[in-house]
Amino acid sequence: MHLLHRLTRTDQPGITFTVDGVMCEGRRGDTLLTAILSFGERLRQSDFSGEPRAGFCQMGACQDCWITLESGDRLRACSTPLVEGMRVITQSSTAR
Ligand code: FES
Repeated sequence: MHLLHRLTRTDQPGITFTVDGVMCEGRRGDTLLTAILSFGERLRQSDFSGEPRAGFCQMGACQDCWITLESGDRLRACSTPLVEGMRVITQSSTAR
């Protein structure tokens, strides 16, 4: 089950990345948020409640889309372009 359904740019080259170790493929021009929600129904779980989150404003204002890479870097998924080889972790640091 995925939250977003791709309607445009389906002919763009694929960009592979992983979410919790699962190989996924986005498209050139995707934000990380778009790419992740094209494969799943949540972006991450809340650091406070553990509830699923999927971003809110989609424009860098609400801070609801922070995600963590395996490197430990934290990024706003809605304003971060997808890059080949990104390795995303959706569990919060307090839940691991
Ligand atoms: S969805 Fe609001 S800052 Fe990213």
